[in-house]
Parts: sequence; C-alpha cells; structure tokens
Amino acid sequence: MQLFLDTTDTAVLADLVKTGLVDGVTTNPTLIAKSGRPMAEVIAEICGLVEGPVSAEAVATDAETMIKEGRKLADIAGNVVVKLPLTRDGLIACAAFAADGIATNVTLCFSVAQALLAAKAGATYVSPFVGRLDDHGADGCALIGDIRTVYDNYGFDTEILAASVRTADHVARCAELGADCATLPPNVFEALFKHPLTDKGLEAFLSDWAKTGQTIL
Ligand code: E4P
Repeated sequence: MQLFLDTTDTAVLADLVKTGLVDGVTTNPTLIAKSGRPMAEVIAEICGLVEGPVSAEAVATDAETMIKEGRKLADIAGNVVVKLPLTRDGLIACAAFAADGIATNVTLCFSVAQALLAAKAGATYVSPFVGRLDDHGADGCALIGDIRTVYDNYGFDTEILAASVRTADHVARCAELGADCATLPPNVFEALFKHPLTDKGLEAFLSDWAKTGQTIL
C-alpha cells in the first residue's frame, strides 16, 4: 500500500520524507489556502521534495477550463497528478487527460457508482473520502471494499486512494479492504508508528539494559 501525505506544509513534509516511507503527496484547494502561498510555488516545492505523485487540484467547474488548468498544473513538474472533482465535467476532463497520457486523481468520491464512472473515464486514481462519510453516519471504510470488488470484477486498473483519513485504524482497515494507497494528514502518519505496548516494552528493555552497566559501542 502506498502512503501519501495530505499536506502543503513543506517543512513537515521534508521531515517525514526522511523516513523513506512517503510515496507521494496530495493537496486540495483548502490545503493550498492554508499554506498562504501561491499554488504553483507550493506544488513546485513539494515536487522537489518527493519523487512520487503529487496531486494538484483544478478549481474550474466546466470541463474546458478544467483541462486548461490541469495542463498548466501538469507543466509544473513531471510528477504532478491532475486532481479533478467527481462531477460530469470533471470526468469529461479526466477522459481528455487519459487520452493525453496525463495522470489524474478523481476526488470527492462518495459512492461505488461514482467510482465506477471514474474508472470508465480512465482515472489513474479515485479518492473515496472515508472520514467525511463517517461524519455523515456511513461506514467510509466499507466503501473502499465495495469499490475494490467492482474494480476487480471488471479488471479496472484505476488505483483506489483512500482519502479523508482521520485515524491509524482507518489506514489499517483500508489496507485490509484492498486500497492501493491512502493519503494521510501528518498527525495520522505519525500515529502509524505508535502503540502503547511498544513504548512500555521499550521502557522496560532499556531499564533492564541499564542495570547491566554494559554498552554496545
Ligand atoms: C485528499 O485528497 C483530500 O482532499 C483530503 O484527504 C480531504 O480530507 P478532509 O476530509 O480531512 O478535508
């Protein structure tokens, strides 16, 4: 499972890249606004920090302008993935990018029917929003499994990118259910390393080791 960071905070990103476990980055208009920086500048900096895919989202609502925006975003760097909303126009733009060999991430997916259309439009990635579905009273992770079934039934190669991930348990469940990738806010990425028994066990080992008076180096 590929792990992406869902952030425009380049300092945090640069630090987490050092783990060697960050496979890519996703952004959205809200995260660009949060950065307080020009979009092209932030995306270029992120693309310099990670070799993997970096999603940059078009903001037009009509296909023709989305295609123009997407082409401009794709020109920023070779690893830019054009992110498009799961709307009728978004999927028209998605098909145009697929024909041109430009990678796409179809975002704001909340149903199997929408995911089916994204795959038929040639999306490279589809982003089901797990956390926002949970907020809405549904089981967001279950959607990941349902999309996996449909994509496998028909041999679609669109990758399932679990988005709006809020907890380490979301990541684990999405992995069990067959997500190809997940995009995580930095705090969730950090949480993946953690287990209270790891901390407790390490504390006991180090305490016992100290009693031996030995050093390894
Ligand atoms: C990433 O592609 C999505 O835009 C992001 O995961 C949405 O997360 P949120 O629901 O926490 O805003």
